[in-house]
This record gives sequence, structure tokens and C-alpha cells, in this order.
Amino acid sequence: MQMPTDYPDAGALAGVEDELRALPPLVFAGEARRLTDRLAQVEAGNAFLLQGGDCAESFKEFSTDNIRDTFRLILQMAVVLTFAGRKPVVKVGRIAGQFAKPRSSSVEMIDGVELPSYRGDIINGMGFNPTERVPDPQRLLKAYHQSASTLNLLRAFAGGGYADLYNIHRWTLGFAADNSYGARYRELADKIGEALAFMEAVGVTPESHPDLSRVEVFTSHEALLLNLESALTRLDGASGEWFDTSAHMVWIGERTRQPDGAHVEFARGIKNPIGLKCGPTMEPEDLLRLLDILNPDNIPGRMTLIGRFGSDKVGERLPRLMRDIKAAGRRVVWSIDPMHGNTLKAGNGYKTRPFERILSEVRTFIDVAESEGVHPGGVHLEMTGQNVTECLGGAQMLTEDDLSSRYHTHCDPRLNADQALELAFLVAERLKSGRQSRSAAA
Ligand code: TRP
Ligand code: MN
Repeated sequence: MQMPTDYPDAGALAGVEDELRALPPLVFAGEARRLTDRLAQVEAGNAFLLQGGDCAESFKEFSTDNIRDTFRLILQMAVVLTFAGRKPVVKVGRIAGQFAKPRSSSVEMIDGVELPSYRGDIINGMGFNPTERVPDPQRLLKAYHQSASTLNLLRAFAGGGYADLYNIHRWTLGFAADNSYGARYRELADKIGEALAFMEAVGVTPESHPDLSRVEVFTSHEALLLNLESALTRLDGASGEWFDTSAHMVWIGERTRQPDGAHVEFARGIKNPIGLKCGPTMEPEDLLRLLDILNPDNIPGRMTLIGRFGSDKVGERLPRLMRDIKAAGRRVVWSIDPMHGNTLKAGNGYKTRPFERILSEVRTFIDVAESEGVHPGGVHLEMTGQNVTECLGGAQMLTEDDLSSRYHTHCDPRLNADQALELAFLVAERLKSGRQSRSAAA
């Protein structure tokens, strides 16, 4: 049901799939393997995972500024989290391939007119008219090329100087600069600037330590369209292993995680790190069965479990899952997606998410992890560096009436840069107090 079957011309689709099979990989096996290693460090409690980006990338919102702003937001959040947690942050974008949307209904009805649902720019168009809603295979190619240029720019930013810690003050040049979290960020940037100056005086410079001036950035998306993912799955000659080269990490969504389903079967066969969304209906025995299938050798860093329960359910659903997985000795990263369980329709019809509930799900996640003796390993967010008005609340105190002013998402409501930074500060405080209570106990 989540894979479109209504392409009008099967031959044209097959032609595009052949073309995709001949196109170069977007990422290399060695990079995906390195991400597995980094995630193993998260699992061991030595690092934190920050995964974020658009709900759905689109052809229309594709621009240099947009990519730069999302990347800059990831850097700002990473700085906040690294400083507080005193541990490296593994930076993974929901970017350069996050186009396809699973839908709860295959049709959409507006004023008595019924059309096929919009499934993301990679399949059909968002406009509510019959022509746009017809799946077009050329869109797969367009998405591939957009992913390639997005990744190219990210790699340039990551290694070409933009991410240099000495630039830390420059990343504030966003709209987030002029509110309370902007001020807190500047304060932190000052402290880091001083630390860098001191380190430089004692001989720790970007020349001696190139990692000061570059970051590793990884890409990820939901592996929903198995024809596309298979076309980009390649054999790594050196190891004889298969890698999905469409992204470093892919995840299995809440709607496609049936143990005997095609999506699980696909993920089983690739060596990339795999994410698995865990919603309120996931039972410990389901999860154990999925882990048996997806990670039979219990390799650390292979599996990231991404809870998405909703602020009202996380406290009830998460503890048992964490406890049983831990008791069974399964090596997993636990992360939280506080977005998807907290979606509601505002009075004026906009799909939105209250910031308070998002924060609350993150807080409960950390509480539960701490009481179960599990590392609260990461967050998975829908966010953008743009000044959008899609989620309610936050320091700007966005109300239902504000939603219409800059509601640009192609699918779910995202945190704007301000809200995302605020969330990073909240998590940072918790990481810091966790660190302090651990050292007090030692
Ligand atoms: N390379 C290190 C890291 O990724 C340090 C670093 C360089 C960094 N630029 C950064 C950390 C920007 C956070 C944000 O952790
Ligand atoms: Mn979404």
C-alpha cells in the first residue's frame, strides 16, 4: 500500500529503474561502515546522535540557502550538545534523499472531489488536480540528481571551511540571532572561542588538528521506495557485502515494519546502519523478532531504535521496550523522534505540533532511559533552518493564528531554527546534569 503501483506506463518506469542502476552511488560503503562505527560509540554511551532535517524534501524548496541553513542549524545544535555533554555528536541529516511519504490514506478528498494522495515529489505533485497526482517516473531521476547536488554541497560545507569551529560566531547570522536562545548561543560561542584561543596558544591548532575545522556529516532517509533503493544497492567489491548507496543510513517506518514484509526483507540484506521507528503499538516481542531478523549477529551500531510514541504514551510504552531489549542483551542505539506522535490539527485546519509536547516527549525519553540504565543516545527531528511557522509555541510563542504566515512544509510541520536550538539547549542541560551526577557518583 505504501509503494505506488499506479504508474500509467510500466515500461517507462522500468526504463528509469535501469537508468538508476547505471548511475553512480551517492555514498560509498566505507562511509556507511564508518557511520556504523560512530553509532557503536553512541551505543556505548560515548557519543550522541543528532539526526534531523525536512519531513519531505521538495523540488520547489531546493536551494543553496536552504541546504546551508539546515546544515548551519545542525552545526549550532551540535556545538550546544557537544559542549554540554563533553562527547562528540554524530551528525546525520534527513537530507539528500528524503522525498517519499508513506500516507495513511491512498486517496485525498476535498469538497467532494477524490484524488490519489500526494506521496512526495519523488512520485507525484502536491497540487490538487488529477494531472499532478499521476505518478511520473521521471521524478525518481530528478530526486536522484537533486540528492547528488545536495550531498555535494554538504560535503563542501563539511570539509571546505564552513564548519570550522573558528567560524562559530558566523553560524549565528540567522533569524535566531535576535532572541533569547540566540543570546545563549552567542555566550556559548564566546566560551568556545576562548577555549580555542587558549588551545592555540598551547599548540593545538587547525594545522595540528584538522578535525577542528571540519565535520563528518552523514545522510539518511526512510527506505520506502524499494525499487529506487534496490537500484542504488551495490556490491562492495572489497568486502563482498551489499550496501544501499542512496544514503549512509536508512530507516524503516512505522507503517512498513512488518517482520515478513518487503521493507524488512530489503533492509536485512544491506550492511548500512538501519533505523527502526518504534511506535505505540510496538510490543517487546515484535521488536525482539525484528532485531533477530535485522541484526542476527548483534553488531553494535547496526540498529538505531527511534521511538515515536507521543508525549502522552511514551512514559507507558517505552520502559518495557528498553528493559526487555536490554535484558536480551541486544546492542542498540536508542533515539527519540518527538515529532510524529505529537501531530494534531489546529482549529483552522493546519496540521501542527505543540512545541511543549515535543519537549515533553524528549524529557520523558531521557527520564526513562536514565531509570532503565540505558544511554539516551539521540534525537530524530523534523526541522528546518528557515523561519517557518509550523509548530506551535517555543520562544517566539507561535499561536494557531501565526501558522498561516510561513507554513511551507510539503508534509509534516517542522521545528524552525529557533525551536530546534531551544530543544538542543534542553537536551544539553539534561546531558550535563547526567554527566555531573555520574561524576559525583564516581
Ligand atoms: N570535528 C569535530 C566534531 O565534529 C569538531 C568540530 C568542528 C565541530 N566543527 C564543528 C563540532 C562544528 C560541532 C560543530 O565534533
Ligand atoms: Mn514526517
